[in-house]
Amino acid sequence: MDTKGLEPIFSRYEGEVSDLIPVLQDIQDEYRYLPKDALVVVSERLNVPLTQIFSVATFYKMFSLVPKGKHQIKLCLGTTCHLQGGPRLLDSVTNRLGVEPGGTTRDLQFSLDTVACLGSCAQAPVMMIDDNYYGRVPVASVPKILKIYKKPKDEK
Ligand code: FES
Repeated sequence: MDTKGLEPIFSRYEGEVSDLIPVLQDIQDEYRYLPKDALVVVSERLNVPLTQIFSVATFYKMFSLVPKGKHQIKLCLGTTCHLQGGPRLLDSVTNRLGVEPGGTTRDLQFSLDTVACLGSCAQAPVMMIDDNYYGRVPVASVPKILKIYKKPKDEK
């Protein structure tokens, strides 16, 4: 990767060890994952051992060491959503996208994760795509919702 793209990120920080997590968050936002080449540069610039950076990167669920999809799906399987059809909703999404929770579609359009609660239990079952909430989601509406986020060439 071209690590020159990291310069705008480093310019926002002092280069202190305490900047590690914010810098990693910015890299994750920019690239949708933490490329190894970028972590090597972070190690040099913040003077933090690479092993420590990998520990942080693997500890927090918000970071990924593999490319994530353009759109992040968070499907709730908390107690209320579970009772209100969350598992059926998950089956529909996984079948439709061909990806299991924790995975990313081959075309890098979607990453799918399950979560314990999205704080909207009254709307169960709930899922989020990027910053958008979908509540009381009928299984039948999954194709229509996903279509909103698909690349135009994928539309049929
Ligand atoms: S259990 Fe799903 S939003 Fe709370």
